[in-house]
Amino acid sequence: MDIFRSLKLFLILLLLNYVKFDLVAAHDSSSGVQPLSKIAIHKAVFVLNDSASIKASPLLLGTNWNVQLGAYEPNDVMQGKDSEWVDVEIEQPKPLEDDWIGIFSPANFNSSTCPQEDQRQQPPFICSAPIKYKFANDSNSNYTKTGKAYHKLRLINQRADFSFALFSGGLSNPQVVAVSNAVRFENPKAPVYPRLSQGKSWNEMTVTWTSGYNIDEAYPFVEWGLKGSPQTRSPAGTLTFDRKSMCAVKVETRHTNFVSQSAGAPARTVGWRDPGFIHTAFLKDLWPNLMYTYKLGHMLSNGSCIWSKNYSFKASPYPGQDSLQSVVIFGDMGKAERDGSNGYNNYQPGSLNTTDQLIKDMDNIDIVFHIGDICYANGYISQWDQFTSQIEPIASTVPYMLASGNHERDVPGTGSFYDTNDSGGECGVLAQTMFYVPADNRAKYWYSTDYGMFHFCIVDSEHDWREGSEQYKFIEQCLASADRQKQPWLIFAAHRVLGYSSGAWYGQQGTFEEPMGRESLQKLWQKYKVDIAFFGHVHNYERTCPIYQNQCVNDETLHYSGTVNGTIHVVVGGGGRSLSYFAREDTLWSLKKDFDYGFVKLTAFNHSSLLFEYKRSSDGNVYDSFTISRDYRDVLACVHDGCEPTTSAI
Ligand SMILES: [Fe+2]
Repeated sequence: MDIFRSLKLFLILLLLNYVKFDLVAAHDSSSGVQPLSKIAIHKAVFVLNDSASIKASPLLLGTNWNVQLGAYEPNDVMQGKDSEWVDVEIEQPKPLEDDWIGIFSPANFNSSTCPQEDQRQQPPFICSAPIKYKFANDSNSNYTKTGKAYHKLRLINQRADFSFALFSGGLSNPQVVAVSNAVRFENPKAPVYPRLSQGKSWNEMTVTWTSGYNIDEAYPFVEWGLKGSPQTRSPAGTLTFDRKSMCAVKVETRHTNFVSQSAGAPARTVGWRDPGFIHTAFLKDLWPNLMYTYKLGHMLSNGSCIWSKNYSFKASPYPGQDSLQSVVIFGDMGKAERDGSNGYNNYQPGSLNTTDQLIKDMDNIDIVFHIGDICYANGYISQWDQFTSQIEPIASTVPYMLASGNHERDVPGTGSFYDTNDSGGECGVLAQTMFYVPADNRAKYWYSTDYGMFHFCIVDSEHDWREGSEQYKFIEQCLASADRQKQPWLIFAAHRVLGYSSGAWYGQQGTFEEPMGRESLQKLWQKYKVDIAFFGHVHNYERTCPIYQNQCVNDETLHYSGTVNGTIHVVVGGGGRSLSYFAREDTLWSLKKDFDYGFVKLTAFNHSSLLFEYKRSSDGNVYDSFTISRDYRDVLACVHDGCEPTTSAI
């Protein structure tokens, strides 16, 4: 009997543990801890040890020096590299397992750089977080015995110099033991990381990039034109913002005798880093589908120019134009570091795989939609540079269109629909400035855009979308503006799941959607016969049947044809951030689930034929697909009382 009771107790505990784990995992899908936040940088102190050292080389990065040739590359071939591997050697007489290397930029990171916000407050010794970090014993298993380690770390041009600091005391009690020499790029201000976006009209491409040049020092422009033809110059606008543009959440800590207040959001404190200058040029009157070349320039007062590398893109097709058109959609990708800086690899294990699969397939992709939770900087501003560098091969070649997510926008008391601090105090400023989207107001991140036979309505789930809201009016107007004879493929996308998802948390709520998600939108999807609605936020892949008011309206799974009477809902939030579990309950509408990293590719062959493919990021292979074949009359057909009343007049 006792054995039976023990066994029963054991099984109950096991079950409780499982439920707890599932709840944590479900909640984790929308939180996302930034690894830099694990460093208690405000507690850091200097305990320099003369017999410890850290050295970095080379001192000058990004030069045109070609090691093989033993000569400088000519300037018109390469305008300076914007990433470089650096050798870092450390010696530590008292090595410990949790020693770590912090990479700082600017190189001077001591208290002289602290802003004095409150005169009564003792400033910290270090007031900005490193741009990344790595444990000293990583790939150096003998470190704790020998006290010696060698690392190859990858730096990108981020407008300032760099230094490396060796810390003991782990991340929670950091003590600076040694600081390296500074290293810097040959031209830290150089224009870098162009990202293309569709403009407000179909024949306009916008180019946004980052530099260290304000407009009074050098005039920004893009030199561009049809490939092989004479190039022209278009001026660019310049934006920047300061620390005061960041939002903060005051955090109260109750001590024994007093209550202290601190700005809880890192964007205004340890996460702040000067964003430099962000420029956008508008390339107009493009010839549909033709190839263009371009490069970024800054004209100095003496007339000479600072140039970027050379890039190219294919102009977008005319709305309704019949040609092969391929679209990639995913959410929640984030960033990772190619040098294996720890936190990052564990933090977003899929993001480099997704990035690399897209780079491999660039010849067959026309436009990319990253539907929210972009880089999970969460208030650590330096991460946006690193993200724009990671996606440069994609975003410099095809329009890289964003939607806004909780990790870009949400801060309590700032007008975001959700009262969380998921953006770490960014309150949308980074997403709204670092990238262009063709919205009327980039602070309200909703917009429509056309790509040939596709019409996209991109919705901002961090602002109210319900009936009566400003955004609801936009959504209806956007869906209604698609002329389906010319643009048969009507796509809706938002970050949070306003449609259907079997994500664990949504399942526990019993609603299988974001609270209040689809109640007002259902009738719009139906009335305007939206083909596919895409969502992120839940980090997995799921596809529903064509659905109308919780009911499948079609038994097919692989091929759809005929009357459009339901919308297919797709969750594609497995871009890179750690995966989200599915609810245990099965629903009738869920056709396919995949607990893995991946993205969706849509290929429109013509006005009647669309291919949908879900590919895993690990191997680029297709793990789910279906096709749609239909004619214009199938879209016009009246379903569910969806047509206007007809008149009996002849
Ligand atoms: Fe999210």
